[in-house]
Amino acid sequence: MADKVRVWDARDQEITGEVDAWDTWEKVKAVKGFPGGLIAFLQTSTDSEGCGFETPTTVQSFAWPILQSGKDLVGVAKTGSGKTLAFLLPGFIKLRKLKKQGEIDTARGPALLCMTPTRELCYQIFSDTEKFGKPVQITAACAYGGAPKRDQEWKIKEGPDCLIATPGRLNDFCENGAVNLDQVRFAVLDEADRMLDMGFEPQIKQILDRVPWEKQMSMFTATWPRECRELAKKYIKDPVQIQIGSDDITTNQNITQKIEVCMSNDEKKSALKRILGNLAHGANCLVFSNTKKNCRDLAWELNEDKSLGLWTEEIHGDLDQARRDTALNRFRSGEARVLCATDVAARGLDIRNIAVVVNYDCPKNQEDYVHRIGRTGRATDRGEAITFLSNWGDEKSANYIVQTMEKANQEVPQVLRDVAAGKSVSSTGGSDNSWGGSNDWKKDDWKKDDDWKKDEWKKDDDWKKDDWKKEDDWKKDDDWKKGDDWKNDEASKESSWQKDDWKQDGDRADGEKDQEAAPQEEEDGSGGKRKALWDLLGEAPAAKEAKVGPSSAPADDGGEDAEIEVEAEAEAE
Ligand SMILES: Nc1ncnc2c1ncn2[C@@H]1O[C@H](COP(=O)(O)OP(=O)(O)OP(=O)(O)O)[C@@H](O)[C@H]1O
Ligand SMILES: [Mg+2]
Repeated sequence: MADKVRVWDARDQEITGEVDAWDTWEKVKAVKGFPGGLIAFLQTSTDSEGCGFETPTTVQSFAWPILQSGKDLVGVAKTGSGKTLAFLLPGFIKLRKLKKQGEIDTARGPALLCMTPTRELCYQIFSDTEKFGKPVQITAACAYGGAPKRDQEWKIKEGPDCLIATPGRLNDFCENGAVNLDQVRFAVLDEADRMLDMGFEPQIKQILDRVPWEKQMSMFTATWPRECRELAKKYIKDPVQIQIGSDDITTNQNITQKIEVCMSNDEKKSALKRILGNLAHGANCLVFSNTKKNCRDLAWELNEDKSLGLWTEEIHGDLDQARRDTALNRFRSGEARVLCATDVAARGLDIRNIAVVVNYDCPKNQEDYVHRIGRTGRATDRGEAITFLSNWGDEKSANYIVQTMEKANQEVPQVLRDVAAGKSVSSTGGSDNSWGGSNDWKKDDWKKDDDWKKDEWKKDDDWKKDDWKKEDDWKKDDDWKKGDDWKNDEASKESSWQKDDWKQDGDRADGEKDQEAAPQEEEDGSGGKRKALWDLLGEAPAAKEAKVGPSSAPADDGGEDAEIEVEAEAEAE
Protein backbone atom coordinates (compact mmCIF):
# COMPACT_ATOMS: atom_id res chain seq x y z
CA MET A 1 0.00 0.00 0.00
CA ALA A 2 1.33 3.44 -0.95
CA ASP A 3 2.39 5.66 1.91
CA LYS A 4 0.14 8.56 2.75
CA VAL A 5 2.02 11.80 2.19
CA ARG A 6 1.21 15.26 3.52
CA VAL A 7 3.22 18.44 3.16
CA TRP A 8 2.67 21.77 4.94
CA ASP A 9 4.36 25.03 4.08
CA ALA A 10 5.97 27.50 6.47
CA ARG A 11 2.53 28.91 7.37
CA ASP A 12 1.08 25.46 8.09
CA GLN A 13 -0.99 25.44 4.91
CA GLU A 14 -1.19 22.03 3.31
CA ILE A 15 0.63 22.03 -0.04
CA THR A 16 0.89 18.32 -0.73
CA GLY A 17 -0.50 18.61 -4.26
CA GLU A 18 1.90 21.43 -5.15
CA VAL A 19 5.10 19.49 -4.58
CA ASP A 20 6.44 17.85 -7.70
CA ALA A 21 8.03 14.80 -6.11
CA TRP A 22 11.26 13.58 -7.71
CA ASP A 23 10.13 10.01 -7.72
CA THR A 24 12.28 8.70 -10.56
CA TRP A 25 16.02 8.93 -11.17
CA GLU A 26 15.24 10.58 -14.51
CA LYS A 27 13.55 13.46 -12.70
CA VAL A 28 16.48 13.76 -10.32
CA LYS A 29 19.02 13.71 -13.13
CA ALA A 30 17.19 16.50 -14.90
CA VAL A 31 17.75 18.85 -11.95
CA LYS A 32 20.63 21.24 -12.39
CA GLY A 33 23.31 20.59 -9.81
CA PHE A 34 22.49 16.97 -9.01
CA PRO A 35 25.69 15.18 -9.91
CA GLY A 36 25.21 12.39 -12.42
CA GLY A 37 28.05 10.36 -10.91
CA LEU A 38 26.28 10.08 -7.58
CA ILE A 39 22.91 9.30 -9.13
CA ALA A 40 24.58 6.58 -11.20
CA PHE A 41 26.17 5.20 -8.04
CA LEU A 42 22.79 5.09 -6.28
CA GLN A 43 21.01 3.62 -9.25
CA THR A 44 23.47 1.06 -10.49
CA SER A 45 23.07 -2.53 -9.38
CA THR A 46 25.18 -3.75 -6.50
CA ASP A 47 27.15 -6.03 -8.84
CA SER A 48 29.11 -3.06 -10.05
CA GLU A 49 29.58 -1.58 -6.60
CA GLY A 50 26.61 0.72 -6.88
CA CYS A 51 23.66 0.72 -4.51
CA GLY A 52 21.03 -0.69 -6.86
CA PHE A 53 18.25 1.60 -5.62
CA GLU A 54 15.41 1.30 -8.12
CA THR A 55 13.80 4.65 -7.34
CA PRO A 56 14.12 7.36 -4.73
CA THR A 57 12.07 6.46 -1.64
CA THR A 58 8.96 8.53 -0.88
CA VAL A 59 10.67 10.67 1.75
CA GLN A 60 13.60 11.27 -0.58
CA SER A 61 11.36 12.22 -3.49
CA PHE A 62 9.67 14.90 -1.36
CA ALA A 63 12.61 16.06 0.76
CA TRP A 64 14.98 16.56 -2.18
CA PRO A 65 13.01 19.24 -4.07
CA ILE A 66 12.14 21.05 -0.83
CA LEU A 67 15.69 21.08 0.51
CA GLN A 68 17.06 21.88 -2.94
CA SER A 69 14.89 24.99 -2.96
CA GLY A 70 16.74 26.17 0.16
CA LYS A 71 13.85 25.81 2.62
CA ASP A 72 14.16 24.48 6.14
CA LEU A 73 12.47 21.13 6.58
CA VAL A 74 11.06 18.78 9.19
CA GLY A 75 10.80 15.29 7.69
CA VAL A 76 8.76 12.67 9.48
CA ALA A 77 8.84 9.26 7.82
CA LYS A 78 8.78 5.66 8.90
CA THR A 79 11.85 3.76 10.05
CA GLY A 80 14.03 2.34 7.30
CA SER A 81 12.64 4.68 4.64
CA GLY A 82 15.93 6.27 3.59
CA LYS A 83 15.91 9.51 5.59
CA THR A 84 19.72 9.57 5.75
CA LEU A 85 20.06 10.03 2.02
CA ALA A 86 17.06 12.36 2.08
CA PHE A 87 19.23 14.95 3.84
CA LEU A 88 22.71 13.98 2.66
CA LEU A 89 22.10 14.40 -1.04
CA PRO A 90 20.76 18.00 -1.00
CA GLY A 91 23.42 18.81 1.60
CA PHE A 92 26.11 17.65 -0.82
CA ILE A 93 24.64 19.69 -3.67
CA LYS A 94 24.50 22.83 -1.59
CA LEU A 95 28.02 22.31 -0.33
CA ARG A 96 29.44 21.85 -3.81
CA LYS A 97 27.66 24.92 -5.07
CA LEU A 98 28.88 27.13 -2.21
CA LYS A 99 32.40 25.79 -2.57
CA LYS A 100 32.40 26.53 -6.28
CA GLN A 101 31.19 30.06 -5.61
CA GLY A 102 33.94 30.49 -3.02
CA GLU A 103 31.42 31.23 -0.30
CA ILE A 104 32.73 28.60 2.08
CA ASP A 105 36.13 27.23 2.91
CA THR A 106 35.92 23.76 4.41
CA ALA A 107 39.60 23.90 5.27
CA ARG A 108 38.45 26.24 8.06
CA GLY A 109 35.52 24.08 9.20
CA PRO A 110 32.83 21.69 7.98
CA ALA A 111 29.94 23.05 5.92
CA LEU A 112 27.54 20.20 6.61
CA LEU A 113 26.87 19.31 10.23
CA CYS A 114 24.72 16.38 11.29
CA MET A 115 24.03 15.59 14.92
CA THR A 116 22.85 12.22 16.20
CA PRO A 117 21.89 10.92 19.63
CA THR A 118 24.13 7.83 19.83
CA ARG A 119 27.74 7.03 19.05
CA GLU A 120 26.88 4.03 16.90
CA LEU A 121 24.40 6.00 14.82
CA CYS A 122 26.97 8.77 14.48
CA TYR A 123 29.48 6.33 13.05
CA GLN A 124 26.89 4.78 10.74
CA ILE A 125 25.91 8.14 9.26
CA PHE A 126 29.55 9.08 8.95
CA SER A 127 30.13 5.86 6.96
CA ASP A 128 27.13 6.66 4.74
CA THR A 129 28.45 10.17 4.21
CA GLU A 130 31.81 8.81 3.15
CA LYS A 131 30.21 6.20 0.92
CA PHE A 132 27.77 8.52 -0.84
CA GLY A 133 30.20 11.45 -0.79
CA LYS A 134 33.01 9.58 -2.52
CA PRO A 135 31.57 9.76 -6.07
CA VAL A 136 31.31 13.54 -5.68
CA GLN A 137 34.62 14.12 -3.87
CA ILE A 138 32.95 15.07 -0.62
CA THR A 139 34.81 14.20 2.56
CA ALA A 140 33.62 13.58 6.11
CA ALA A 141 34.79 13.18 9.69
CA CYS A 142 33.03 12.15 12.87
CA ALA A 143 33.15 13.12 16.52
CA TYR A 144 31.58 10.97 19.19
CA GLY A 145 32.30 10.09 22.78
CA GLY A 146 34.12 7.05 24.08
CA ALA A 147 36.61 6.90 21.20
CA PRO A 148 40.09 8.49 21.35
CA LYS A 149 39.88 12.21 20.73
CA ARG A 150 43.23 12.43 19.04
CA ASP A 151 42.24 10.36 16.01
CA GLN A 152 39.04 12.31 15.56
CA GLU A 153 40.85 15.65 15.89
CA TRP A 154 43.38 14.51 13.33
CA LYS A 155 40.69 13.87 10.73
CA ILE A 156 38.95 17.14 11.54
CA LYS A 157 42.22 19.02 11.02
CA GLU A 158 42.29 17.69 7.45
CA GLY A 159 39.32 19.97 6.71
CA PRO A 160 36.45 17.59 5.90
CA ASP A 161 33.35 18.95 4.14
CA CYS A 162 30.97 17.21 6.54
CA LEU A 163 31.03 16.52 10.25
CA ILE A 164 28.79 13.95 11.90
CA ALA A 165 28.77 14.25 15.68
CA THR A 166 27.16 13.49 18.99
CA PRO A 167 26.53 16.71 20.93
CA GLY A 168 28.77 16.03 23.95
CA ARG A 169 31.97 15.43 22.03
CA LEU A 170 31.19 18.17 19.55
CA ASN A 171 30.73 20.75 22.29
CA ASP A 172 33.97 19.65 23.77
CA PHE A 173 35.77 20.05 20.44
CA CYS A 174 34.21 23.47 19.98
CA GLU A 175 35.44 24.53 23.39
CA ASN A 176 39.00 23.32 22.87
CA GLY A 177 39.13 24.90 19.43
CA ALA A 178 39.42 21.64 17.50
CA VAL A 179 36.25 22.41 15.57
CA ASN A 180 35.11 25.68 14.07
CA LEU A 181 31.46 25.79 13.08
CA ASP A 182 31.37 29.14 11.29
CA GLN A 183 31.40 27.51 7.85
CA VAL A 184 28.29 25.42 8.51
CA ARG A 185 25.54 26.13 5.98
CA PHE A 186 23.57 22.90 6.19
CA ALA A 187 22.68 21.52 9.63
CA VAL A 188 20.70 18.40 10.40
CA LEU A 189 19.27 16.95 13.58
CA ASP A 190 18.73 13.28 12.92
CA GLU A 191 16.33 11.58 15.35
CA ALA A 192 15.24 15.11 16.07
CA ASP A 193 12.65 14.32 18.74
CA ARG A 194 15.34 12.52 20.73
CA MET A 195 17.78 15.37 20.21
CA LEU A 196 15.31 17.88 21.56
CA ASP A 197 14.61 15.68 24.56
CA MET A 198 15.60 17.15 27.91
CA GLY A 199 19.13 15.78 28.11
CA PHE A 200 20.31 17.00 24.74
CA GLU A 201 18.53 20.24 24.20
CA PRO A 202 20.92 22.49 26.17
CA GLN A 203 23.87 21.02 24.27
CA ILE A 204 22.12 21.42 20.95
CA LYS A 205 21.50 25.05 21.82
CA GLN A 206 25.15 25.60 22.69
CA ILE A 207 26.22 24.10 19.38
CA LEU A 208 23.67 25.86 17.22
CA ASP A 209 24.62 29.18 18.84
CA ARG A 210 28.01 28.73 17.18
CA VAL A 211 26.55 28.00 13.76
CA PRO A 212 25.87 30.95 11.43
CA TRP A 213 22.27 32.11 11.29
CA GLU A 214 22.05 31.86 7.49
CA LYS A 215 22.35 28.08 7.52
CA GLN A 216 19.68 25.77 6.16
CA MET A 217 18.27 23.58 8.92
CA SER A 218 16.48 20.25 8.76
CA MET A 219 15.21 17.72 11.27
CA PHE A 220 14.33 14.10 10.59
CA THR A 221 12.63 11.38 12.61
CA ALA A 222 9.99 8.68 12.47
CA THR A 223 8.13 10.08 15.48
CA TRP A 224 7.33 13.72 16.06
CA PRO A 225 5.26 14.23 19.18
CA ARG A 226 3.63 17.58 19.91
CA GLU A 227 6.08 18.59 22.70
CA CYS A 228 8.94 18.32 20.22
CA ARG A 229 7.28 20.51 17.66
CA GLU A 230 7.09 23.31 20.20
CA LEU A 231 10.73 22.91 21.21
CA ALA A 232 11.83 22.67 17.61
CA LYS A 233 10.51 26.15 16.91
CA LYS A 234 13.48 27.52 18.84
CA TYR A 235 15.88 26.05 16.30
CA ILE A 236 14.07 25.90 13.02
CA LYS A 237 12.16 28.87 11.69
CA ASP A 238 8.94 28.24 9.79
CA PRO A 239 9.99 24.96 8.21
CA VAL A 240 8.16 23.05 5.54
CA GLN A 241 6.97 19.81 7.08
CA ILE A 242 6.53 16.51 5.32
CA GLN A 243 4.83 13.61 6.98
CA ILE A 244 4.86 10.24 5.36
CA GLY A 245 2.37 8.10 7.20
CA SER A 246 -1.01 8.59 8.78
CA ASP A 247 0.10 10.84 11.63
CA ASP A 248 3.05 12.03 13.70
CA ILE A 249 4.04 8.52 14.80
CA THR A 250 4.69 6.73 11.55
CA THR A 251 4.70 2.95 11.24
CA ASN A 252 6.43 0.60 8.91
CA GLN A 253 3.98 -1.85 7.37
CA ASN A 254 6.75 -4.25 6.38
CA ILE A 255 7.09 -5.27 10.00
CA THR A 256 4.74 -7.99 11.21
CA GLN A 257 3.96 -7.15 14.81
CA LYS A 258 3.23 -9.95 17.25
CA ILE A 259 2.88 -10.30 20.97
CA GLU A 260 3.47 -13.03 23.51
CA VAL A 261 1.73 -13.01 26.87
CA CYS A 262 4.02 -14.34 29.57
CA MET A 263 3.18 -14.96 33.23
CA SER A 264 6.72 -14.98 34.55
CA ASN A 265 10.32 -14.31 33.72
CA ASP A 266 10.87 -18.01 33.12
CA GLU A 267 8.11 -17.98 30.53
CA LYS A 268 9.70 -14.99 28.87
CA LYS A 269 13.01 -16.82 28.69
CA SER A 270 11.51 -19.94 27.21
CA ALA A 271 9.52 -17.88 24.71
CA LEU A 272 12.71 -16.09 23.66
CA LYS A 273 14.60 -19.35 23.31
CA ARG A 274 11.82 -20.77 21.20
CA ILE A 275 11.97 -17.73 18.92
CA LEU A 276 15.73 -18.02 18.65
CA GLY A 277 15.41 -21.73 17.95
CA ASN A 278 13.28 -20.84 14.94
CA LEU A 279 15.65 -18.23 13.59
CA ALA A 280 16.37 -18.79 9.91
CA HIS A 281 19.85 -19.23 8.55
CA GLY A 282 21.42 -15.82 8.04
CA ALA A 283 18.74 -14.10 10.09
CA ASN A 284 19.70 -12.12 13.17
CA CYS A 285 17.63 -11.28 16.24
CA LEU A 286 17.82 -8.06 18.25
CA VAL A 287 16.50 -8.37 21.81
CA PHE A 288 15.63 -5.24 23.77
CA SER A 289 15.66 -4.98 27.55
CA ASN A 290 14.84 -1.89 29.55
CA THR A 291 17.89 -1.98 31.81
CA LYS A 292 21.57 -2.63 31.40
CA LYS A 293 21.42 -5.32 34.05
CA ASN A 294 18.66 -7.27 32.33
CA CYS A 295 20.50 -6.91 29.07
CA ARG A 296 23.72 -8.29 30.52
CA ASP A 297 21.96 -11.12 32.35
CA LEU A 298 20.04 -12.16 29.29
CA ALA A 299 23.11 -12.20 27.05
CA TRP A 300 24.93 -14.31 29.60
CA GLU A 301 22.04 -16.74 29.93
CA LEU A 302 21.68 -17.15 26.17
CA ASN A 303 25.37 -17.83 25.76
CA GLU A 304 25.23 -20.35 28.57
CA ASP A 305 22.48 -22.30 26.80
CA LYS A 306 24.57 -24.45 24.49
CA SER A 307 21.50 -26.07 22.96
CA LEU A 308 20.73 -22.79 21.19
CA GLY A 309 24.04 -22.80 19.34
CA LEU A 310 23.81 -19.06 18.82
CA TRP A 311 26.39 -16.53 19.78
CA THR A 312 24.92 -13.58 21.64
CA GLU A 313 26.50 -10.16 22.07
CA GLU A 314 25.36 -7.31 24.30
CA ILE A 315 25.34 -3.54 23.89
CA HIS A 316 24.52 -0.99 26.54
CA GLY A 317 25.92 2.00 28.36
CA ASP A 318 27.96 0.03 30.91
CA LEU A 319 30.34 -1.25 28.27
CA ASP A 320 33.27 0.78 27.04
CA GLN A 321 33.16 1.92 23.45
CA ALA A 322 35.61 -0.68 22.17
CA ARG A 323 33.38 -3.44 23.55
CA ARG A 324 30.28 -1.79 22.11
CA ASP A 325 31.93 -1.55 18.70
CA THR A 326 33.04 -5.16 18.78
CA ALA A 327 29.56 -6.31 19.73
CA LEU A 328 27.94 -4.35 16.96
CA ASN A 329 30.48 -5.42 14.35
CA ARG A 330 30.06 -9.08 15.24
CA PHE A 331 26.31 -8.70 15.03
CA ARG A 332 26.44 -6.79 11.74
CA SER A 333 28.67 -9.42 10.18
CA GLY A 334 26.37 -12.21 11.36
CA GLU A 335 29.14 -13.72 13.46
CA ALA A 336 26.95 -13.10 16.48
CA ARG A 337 23.34 -13.89 15.63
CA VAL A 338 21.74 -12.32 18.67
CA LEU A 339 22.29 -8.90 20.18
CA CYS A 340 20.85 -8.03 23.58
CA ALA A 341 20.51 -4.28 23.73
CA THR A 342 19.08 -1.42 25.67
CA ASP A 343 17.59 1.57 23.90
CA VAL A 344 21.11 2.55 22.87
CA ALA A 345 20.34 0.46 19.78
CA ALA A 346 16.75 1.61 19.34
CA ARG A 347 17.26 4.45 16.92
CA GLY A 348 18.58 4.76 13.42
CA LEU A 349 20.75 1.64 13.25
CA ASP A 350 20.53 0.03 9.83
CA ILE A 351 21.50 -3.64 10.02
CA ARG A 352 19.89 -5.43 7.14
CA ASN A 353 20.13 -8.97 8.49
CA ILE A 354 17.94 -8.28 11.53
CA ALA A 355 14.90 -10.43 10.78
CA VAL A 356 13.34 -10.40 14.23
CA VAL A 357 13.17 -7.81 16.99
CA VAL A 358 12.08 -9.03 20.40
CA ASN A 359 10.91 -6.60 23.05
CA TYR A 360 11.84 -8.80 25.98
CA ASP A 361 10.86 -5.87 28.18
CA CYS A 362 8.06 -3.76 26.86
CA PRO A 363 9.20 -0.29 25.77
CA LYS A 364 7.95 2.57 27.87
CA ASN A 365 6.08 4.45 25.21
CA GLN A 366 4.84 4.24 21.67
CA GLU A 367 7.74 6.23 20.20
CA ASP A 368 10.29 3.83 21.64
CA TYR A 369 8.20 0.91 20.41
CA VAL A 370 8.13 2.29 16.86
CA HIS A 371 11.89 2.91 16.78
CA ARG A 372 12.80 -0.42 18.38
CA ILE A 373 10.70 -2.54 16.03
CA GLY A 374 11.98 -0.36 13.19
CA ARG A 375 15.41 -2.02 13.43
CA THR A 376 13.90 -4.68 11.18
CA GLY A 377 11.96 -4.25 7.92
CA ARG A 378 14.54 -1.83 6.48
CA ALA A 379 13.91 -0.37 3.02
CA THR A 380 11.89 -3.06 1.19
CA ASP A 381 12.86 -5.90 3.57
CA ARG A 382 10.23 -7.59 5.66
CA GLY A 383 10.67 -8.24 9.35
CA GLU A 384 8.99 -9.46 12.46
CA ALA A 385 8.67 -7.83 15.89
CA ILE A 386 7.52 -9.76 18.94
CA THR A 387 6.72 -7.98 22.19
CA PHE A 388 6.40 -9.81 25.50
CA LEU A 389 3.55 -8.58 27.63
CA SER A 390 2.57 -9.59 31.10
CA ASN A 391 -0.88 -11.03 31.54
CA TRP A 392 -1.75 -8.17 33.81
CA GLY A 393 -0.59 -4.59 34.33
CA ASP A 394 0.52 -3.96 30.75
CA GLU A 395 -2.67 -2.24 29.59
CA LYS A 396 -0.92 0.95 28.56
CA SER A 397 1.66 -0.80 26.46
CA ALA A 398 -0.94 -3.11 24.95
CA ASN A 399 -2.96 -0.05 24.00
CA TYR A 400 -0.21 1.61 22.05
CA ILE A 401 0.65 -1.67 20.37
CA VAL A 402 -3.00 -2.00 19.29
CA GLN A 403 -2.82 1.53 17.87
CA THR A 404 0.44 0.84 16.06
CA MET A 405 -0.86 -2.42 14.60
CA GLU A 406 -4.05 -0.76 13.44
CA LYS A 407 -2.08 2.02 11.78
CA ALA A 408 -0.02 -0.60 9.99
CA ASN A 409 -3.25 -2.30 8.85
CA GLN A 410 -2.49 -5.43 10.77
CA GLU A 411 -5.04 -7.67 12.35
CA VAL A 412 -5.07 -7.10 16.09
CA PRO A 413 -5.29 -10.39 18.02
CA GLN A 414 -8.09 -10.64 20.56
CA VAL A 415 -5.64 -11.51 23.33
CA LEU A 416 -3.90 -8.16 22.82
CA ARG A 417 -7.22 -6.32 22.97
CA ASP A 418 -7.95 -8.22 26.17
CA VAL A 419 -4.64 -7.21 27.75
CA ALA A 420 -5.32 -3.62 26.68
CA ALA A 421 -8.72 -3.80 28.35
CA GLY A 422 -7.19 -5.15 31.57
CA LYS A 423 -8.95 -8.51 31.19
CA SER A 424 -7.42 -11.65 32.55
CA VAL A 425 -5.76 -13.72 29.82
CA SER A 426 -3.75 -16.88 29.81
CA SER A 427 -0.12 -16.95 28.78
CA THR A 428 1.24 -17.79 25.37
CA GLY A 429 4.86 -17.68 26.41
CA GLY A 430 5.45 -21.37 26.95
CA SER A 431 3.42 -22.46 23.96
CA ASP A 432 4.42 -22.67 20.38
CA ASN A 433 2.65 -19.67 19.00
CA SER A 434 2.73 -15.93 19.29
CA TRP A 435 -0.24 -13.78 18.52
CA GLY A 436 -0.68 -11.44 15.65
CA GLY A 437 0.60 -11.10 12.15
CA SER A 438 -0.01 -13.60 9.44
CA ASN A 439 3.33 -14.86 8.33
CA ASP A 440 3.17 -18.44 9.43
CA TRP A 441 4.62 -19.40 6.08
CA LYS A 442 7.74 -17.66 7.14
CA LYS A 443 8.01 -19.64 10.31
CA ASP A 444 7.93 -22.88 8.38
CA ASP A 445 10.40 -21.74 5.76
CA TRP A 446 12.72 -20.38 8.35
CA LYS A 447 12.51 -23.56 10.31
CA LYS A 448 13.73 -25.52 7.32
CA ASP A 449 16.68 -23.20 6.96
CA ASP A 450 17.19 -23.45 10.60
CA ASP A 451 17.76 -27.17 10.61
CA TRP A 452 20.82 -26.53 8.60
CA LYS A 453 21.94 -23.96 11.05
CA LYS A 454 21.54 -26.19 14.05
CA ASP A 455 23.85 -28.80 12.65
CA GLU A 456 26.36 -27.13 10.39
CA TRP A 457 26.65 -23.77 11.92
CA LYS A 458 27.25 -25.17 15.34
CA LYS A 459 30.22 -27.14 14.08
CA ASP A 460 31.70 -24.13 12.36
CA ASP A 461 31.41 -22.02 15.37
CA ASP A 462 32.74 -24.26 18.05
CA TRP A 463 36.17 -22.73 17.80
CA LYS A 464 34.70 -19.32 18.10
CA LYS A 465 32.69 -20.09 21.14
CA ASP A 466 35.67 -21.56 22.90
CA ASP A 467 38.02 -18.73 22.07
CA TRP A 468 35.53 -16.20 22.92
CA LYS A 469 34.71 -17.84 26.17
CA LYS A 470 38.32 -17.76 27.21
CA GLU A 471 38.40 -14.08 26.55
CA ASP A 472 35.40 -13.54 28.69
CA ASP A 473 36.04 -16.05 31.41
CA TRP A 474 37.13 -13.43 33.84
CA LYS A 475 33.76 -11.92 33.50
CA LYS A 476 31.77 -15.04 33.97
CA ASP A 477 33.77 -16.63 36.73
CA ASP A 478 34.99 -13.88 38.92
CA ASP A 479 33.73 -10.41 39.39
CA TRP A 480 30.94 -10.65 37.05
CA LYS A 481 29.44 -13.79 38.47
CA LYS A 482 29.75 -12.44 41.94
CA GLY A 483 27.82 -9.51 40.66
CA ASP A 484 25.36 -11.93 39.32
CA ASP A 485 24.97 -13.73 42.62
CA TRP A 486 24.23 -10.48 44.18
CA LYS A 487 21.75 -9.94 41.50
CA ASN A 488 20.12 -13.27 42.02
CA ASP A 489 19.70 -12.70 45.69
CA GLU A 490 19.20 -9.03 46.22
CA ALA A 491 18.01 -7.73 42.95
CA SER A 492 15.58 -10.53 42.42
CA LYS A 493 13.88 -9.34 45.57
CA GLU A 494 13.78 -5.96 44.03
CA SER A 495 12.54 -7.17 40.73
CA SER A 496 9.91 -9.40 42.24
CA TRP A 497 8.79 -6.40 44.16
CA GLN A 498 8.72 -4.59 40.92
CA LYS A 499 6.79 -7.29 39.19
CA ASP A 500 4.19 -7.36 41.89
CA ASP A 501 3.79 -4.02 43.62
CA TRP A 502 4.79 -1.98 40.69
CA LYS A 503 1.88 -3.20 38.72
CA GLN A 504 -0.59 -2.84 41.52
CA ASP A 505 0.20 0.70 42.48
CA GLY A 506 0.45 3.13 39.63
CA ASP A 507 1.68 6.14 41.56
CA ARG A 508 4.29 4.33 43.52
CA ALA A 509 5.21 2.45 40.42
CA ASP A 510 6.40 5.51 38.60
CA GLY A 511 8.34 6.89 41.51
CA GLU A 512 9.99 3.62 42.31
CA LYS A 513 10.57 2.73 38.76
CA ASP A 514 12.43 5.92 38.32
CA GLN A 515 14.55 5.31 41.38
CA GLU A 516 15.41 1.87 40.15
CA ALA A 517 16.07 3.24 36.73
CA ALA A 518 18.01 6.29 37.87
CA PRO A 519 21.51 4.99 37.17
CA GLN A 520 20.26 3.55 33.92
CA GLU A 521 18.32 6.59 33.00
CA GLU A 522 19.95 6.60 29.61
CA GLU A 523 17.94 3.55 28.69
CA ASP A 524 14.76 5.48 29.15
CA GLY A 525 13.40 7.57 26.36
CA SER A 526 10.26 8.95 27.88
CA GLY A 527 11.30 12.58 27.28
CA GLY A 528 8.95 15.26 28.48
CA LYS A 529 7.05 12.99 30.80
CA ARG A 530 10.26 11.97 32.45
CA LYS A 531 11.29 15.56 32.80
CA ALA A 532 8.02 16.34 34.50
CA LEU A 533 8.56 13.45 36.87
CA TRP A 534 12.10 14.56 37.64
CA ASP A 535 10.96 18.08 38.21
CA LEU A 536 8.52 16.69 40.68
CA LEU A 537 11.07 14.52 42.42
CA GLY A 538 13.88 17.04 42.07
CA GLU A 539 16.16 14.11 41.21
CA ALA A 540 17.62 14.84 37.83
CA PRO A 541 21.05 16.09 38.92
CA ALA A 542 21.61 13.16 41.25
CA ALA A 543 20.74 10.77 38.50
CA LYS A 544 23.26 12.42 36.21
CA GLU A 545 26.01 12.35 38.81
CA ALA A 546 25.38 8.70 39.39
CA LYS A 547 26.28 8.04 35.78
CA VAL A 548 29.65 9.69 35.80
CA GLY A 549 31.37 7.03 37.87
CA PRO A 550 30.76 3.68 36.24
CA SER A 551 30.36 4.70 32.64
CA SER A 552 32.99 7.38 32.31
CA ALA A 553 34.58 7.75 28.93
CA PRO A 554 38.01 6.19 28.37
CA ALA A 555 41.15 7.59 29.91
CA ASP A 556 42.00 9.94 27.11
CA ASP A 557 38.82 11.86 27.77
CA GLY A 558 39.58 14.37 30.47
CA GLY A 559 37.40 14.69 33.51
CA GLU A 560 35.22 17.47 32.32
CA ASP A 561 35.00 15.97 28.91
CA ALA A 562 34.09 12.63 30.35
CA GLU A 563 31.28 14.20 32.24
CA ILE A 564 29.91 15.92 29.21
CA GLU A 565 30.16 12.75 27.20
CA VAL A 566 28.59 10.63 29.85
CA GLU A 567 25.73 13.01 30.03
CA ALA A 568 25.41 13.01 26.28
CA GLU A 569 25.56 9.28 26.10
CA ALA A 570 23.20 9.02 28.96
CA GLU A 571 20.64 10.86 26.99
CA ALA A 572 21.78 9.18 23.87
CA GLU A 573 21.04 5.79 25.12
N1 LIG B 1 16.19 4.92 -2.74
C1 LIG B 1 16.42 3.83 -2.03
N2 LIG B 1 16.02 2.62 -2.47
C2 LIG B 1 16.27 1.49 -1.74
N3 LIG B 1 16.91 1.49 -0.56
C3 LIG B 1 17.33 2.67 -0.08
C4 LIG B 1 17.12 3.90 -0.78
N4 LIG B 1 17.66 4.90 -0.05
C5 LIG B 1 18.19 4.34 1.06
N5 LIG B 1 18.01 3.00 1.04
C6 LIG B 1 18.43 2.02 2.06
O1 LIG B 1 17.40 1.94 3.03
C7 LIG B 1 17.94 1.55 4.30
C8 LIG B 1 17.38 2.46 5.39
O2 LIG B 1 17.85 3.78 5.21
P1 LIG B 1 18.02 4.79 6.44
O3 LIG B 1 18.90 4.20 7.48
O4 LIG B 1 18.40 6.09 5.87
O5 LIG B 1 16.52 4.82 7.01
P2 LIG B 1 15.87 5.85 8.04
O6 LIG B 1 14.61 6.33 7.41
O7 LIG B 1 16.86 6.85 8.45
O8 LIG B 1 15.48 4.87 9.23
P3 LIG B 1 15.45 5.18 10.83
O9 LIG B 1 14.18 5.90 11.10
O10 LIG B 1 15.46 3.81 11.43
O11 LIG B 1 16.65 5.99 11.14
C9 LIG B 1 19.45 1.67 4.15
O12 LIG B 1 19.98 0.36 4.07
C10 LIG B 1 19.65 2.44 2.86
O13 LIG B 1 20.84 2.09 2.21
MG1 LIG C 1 17.82 7.27 10.21
